[in-house]
Amino acid sequence: MKKFIIGNLKMNFTEEETKKYLNTLIPLVEEANNKIAICFPFTNIPLARKMLKGTKILLGAQNVHEKDSGEFTGEISANMLKDLSCELVLVGHSERRKYFGESNQSVNAKIKQLLKNGLGVIFCIGESLAERESDKTKIVLKQQIEQGLSGLYENELNNIVIAYEPIWAIGTGKIPTKEQIEEVAKFIREVITQNFSEKAAKEVAILYGGSVKPENVKIVLKAEGVNGGLIGGASLNPESFSKIIRVK
Ligand code: PGA
Repeated sequence: MKKFIIGNLKMNFTEEETKKYLNTLIPLVEEANNKIAICFPFTNIPLARKMLKGTKILLGAQNVHEKDSGEFTGEISANMLKDLSCELVLVGHSERRKYFGESNQSVNAKIKQLLKNGLGVIFCIGESLAERESDKTKIVLKQQIEQGLSGLYENELNNIVIAYEPIWAIGTGKIPTKEQIEEVAKFIREVITQNFSEKAAKEVAILYGGSVKPENVKIVLKAEGVNGGLIGGASLNPESFSKIIRVK
């Protein structure tokens, strides 16, 4: 089965570095079977748009503002991203929640704004180590899902992928076991069934993110109910990222 592999470049690369990166990466993944997207910093989107034309790599961004336009100094709207041919946008990444105070409510508003503008959503959820250790993982994830997707129509889920990223696994080299990932993927589908339908739960794509590397990607993608991966650190190196993308 085709998997969906998404790179999150975070706050890395100048324009020149992006050029070098894509010039190396694009030929390495030309033959890959999996679906691919890369979420660039805003400043590199115009260049990436040009360089990705004619390739199968989808153009993504890492954040969006929840309003249409106006007095929001420093922010970028969904319409601006659409205008640059962006196809999908990360929402609710744990770094945004932690450093920029994003709540489930603002995540919900951003998701609605993206859907309204015809953009795809990569909706990130995940528990902290303290939450996992105190057995609160499911409570936290359920709340993130229910509040994040509140007020959505079932058919809008077609434009959303859910990325499960345990905070304790992001950038740490620690990774949950295959069984732990499977348990969460199953639980996410249960919550989607309760709030939408069994059909929606079956169809929604669930990605795993957090310390995915060429060495462990096979295990992660073999986890039942997992449709792909969200890759941070390892996506910065074109050779490593291409190995992950080409995984079968
Ligand atoms: P990581 O990051 O692969 O460096 O752990 C994943 C992410 O933050 O999306």
